[in-house]
Amino acid sequence: MRHGRWTRPALLLLTLLFLVGCYQGRPKKKPPIHPNPNMDNTPRYEAQESSAFFEDGTTLRTPVEGTVARGSLHNDPIFYEGIDPRTGKPVEENPVPATMSSLKRGQERFDIYCSVCHGRVGDGKGIVIERGYTPPPTFHSELIRNYPDGHIFDVISNGIRNMPGYADQIPVEDRWDIVNYFRALERSQNADVADVPEELRDRLK
Ligand code: HEC
Repeated sequence: MRHGRWTRPALLLLTLLFLVGCYQGRPKKKPPIHPNPNMDNTPRYEAQESSAFFEDGTTLRTPVEGTVARGSLHNDPIFYEGIDPRTGKPVEENPVPATMSSLKRGQERFDIYCSVCHGRVGDGKGIVIERGYTPPPTFHSELIRNYPDGHIFDVISNGIRNMPGYADQIPVEDRWDIVNYFRALERSQNADVADVPEELRDRLK
């Protein structure tokens, strides 16, 4: 086969490229040659860096006063605080309907967050109490049964006397689900035959 005019230079170029490839992969002490910088190294501030431009000397800007993140406008006192804006008192009724899914979620959250102290049935005999924590009252007293839903929500959110608040651990919607389950738990421990559907009463005998 006859070599063309460009065969030699082409081979040479390929070899060179190959060698450059090898060279690129090695650790080097000097910074690599950067023939086309584009915008690879743009002057900018790092977070927390000081700035001579702004009066307070910081690069980080604080949001304008009254700024609210999208989806964080908590302007419904019933849902977010359990407070009736007309009376300023705890709402009587849970704003979240007691659907099956709410109750299921509430049960799961109750078992995780509350049962350790209050026990799975709310009798106040949780494992933490066995180890010496201040015993909470049973949920099945006349007094607590008559508490408005908003009060239970407030206790979960802010705690009360010896009980810590759970606002940081339990999101608002979950708190209301727990309140729904809480009410179901109370009914379950204070039911009579009339609460059982007629067709199921035979099973109790
Ligand atoms: C660390 C243990 C602990 C956990 C966890 C806990 N509680 Fe309590 N709770 C207490 C104690 C102790 C009291 C009694 C407070 C007092 O009167 O000093 C109490 C009281 C209450 C009361 C009665 C409040 C009143 O007004 O008398 C309710 C309702 C209640 N808890 C609900 C809950 C719910 C719902 C959860 C789960 C989200 C929960 N608690 C988690 C310890 C706990």
